[in-house]
Amino acid sequence: MKKVKLGLLGLGTVGSGVLKVLRQNAAMIKRREGLDIDVGWVLVRDKAKKRSVEIDPSVLTTDAQAILNDPEVDLIAEFMGGEEPAFTYIRQALRNGKSVVTANKEVIAKHWHELEPEAEKSGAGLYFEASVAGGIPIIKTIKRSLQANHILKFMGIINGTTNYILTRMSEEGSDFQTVLKDAQRLGYAEPDPTADIEGLDAKFKLSILSTICFRNMVPLEHVFCEGITRVTAEDITYARQLGYGIKLLAIAKKNGNRIEARVHPTFIPLTHPLCAVRDSYNAIFLEGDAVGSLMFYGRGAGDLPTASAVVSDIITACQNEGGHHHRTGMDEGEVIFERNWISRYYVRMLVCDRPGVLGEIAGLFGKNGVSLESVIQTTRGDDASLIFITHEAQEQSMMKALEDMRGCDVISSIESVIRVER
Ligand SMILES: NC(=O)c1ccc[n+]([C@@H]2O[C@H](COP(=O)([O-])OP(=O)(O)OC[C@H]3O[C@@H](n4cnc5c(N)ncnc54)[C@H](OP(=O)(O)O)[C@@H]3O)[C@@H](O)[C@H]2O)c1
Repeated sequence: MKKVKLGLLGLGTVGSGVLKVLRQNAAMIKRREGLDIDVGWVLVRDKAKKRSVEIDPSVLTTDAQAILNDPEVDLIAEFMGGEEPAFTYIRQALRNGKSVVTANKEVIAKHWHELEPEAEKSGAGLYFEASVAGGIPIIKTIKRSLQANHILKFMGIINGTTNYILTRMSEEGSDFQTVLKDAQRLGYAEPDPTADIEGLDAKFKLSILSTICFRNMVPLEHVFCEGITRVTAEDITYARQLGYGIKLLAIAKKNGNRIEARVHPTFIPLTHPLCAVRDSYNAIFLEGDAVGSLMFYGRGAGDLPTASAVVSDIITACQNEGGHHHRTGMDEGEVIFERNWISRYYVRMLVCDRPGVLGEIAGLFGKNGVSLESVIQTTRGDDASLIFITHEAQEQSMMKALEDMRGCDVISSIESVIRVER
């Protein structure tokens, strides 16, 4: 039996879940894994705060240095959230030779390139399974079970809040603001929902996941990001008529030395497995050159699902002295981050309802190398709504076509532009 002393940084949703799982499954972890894990310290901001788990007050501290410099602490597990002071504490722990398990997507997405050399130098391990898709064991699976594959493409629903909002909008026909308010009331969305609805949370996760899949650092500045705030109930209705659902997808593709990584609302066919992922669930659909298509589905957040990933990392860290297994093993060679990707597009606009308008607009698409797959026209008083789905086109050609249209007097407004994946 190996005795391990653990220092926890944070005792909120994730920290409490980790304590619960370590306690309720302690006997099994001892028997199966040969580990006797003792939580020696827990860092919090407020020692007097009421907690959702019972905790011996003598292990609570507001002094991070007492934990980070305790020679008896073997392993640090961080669930404070935010960039600082979490980054500084993680770096200090690694420098002190202590392996670190974290659920912090922001710190890993922004600082992995600095933390990994620190771990390398001290021989400590750095583990962050819970930072992407909560309870879904996607990072370990890619590293440990898919090494025989080149992964050239994946698409995922990796933000539960936006999937919950889009699911309710599409099933109830409600508008974005109404569902957002309700989601906040029910605890599915934060009081400040910006990081979720603007796609930033998914952007952090996509940067981490594409780095692991493609074995090339995909820095945040190369991840395109657009949130769901402009998706309307009307778009969802038209999507359905055309045979699609709308999801906030994180998409990454590798073609030779070119990598594209983007987060945006996306039309996907109603028959695609990702379209069936409802509520706050997460899913990742990936393609390996040997294995073909795979899909992973589960809870992307919540105390116990996230703790499942964290405790698994804690066990792995305890069993891997020296932490050598965690190395990213980056591929050599120059990478180009693609901005001019190929996609189909849905475009909805209001135009003057008079003869020749459709031809004029089709001409503007055509002039920029964008050809049309289908058109729907509906009349509203003196105006008409035109809904286009294009064939595959280059992003820059599409943006140029839209720019030309903004100066065109028969078009009153371009209401929506949403990318389409098949
Ligand atoms: N919630 C989820 O389902 C989930 C899923 C996957 C990943 N994550 C990630 O896990 C991390 C934690 O999330 P959470 O939802 O558990 O957060 P949370 O409920 O807000 O808990 C944060 C904890 O950290 C402590 N803390 C924060 N700043 C501190 C500081 N400067 N000094 C000392 N203690 C500090 C807080 O202490 P007090 O309690 O005293 O205020 C609290 O116990 C985040 O990085 C998040 O992105 C969360």
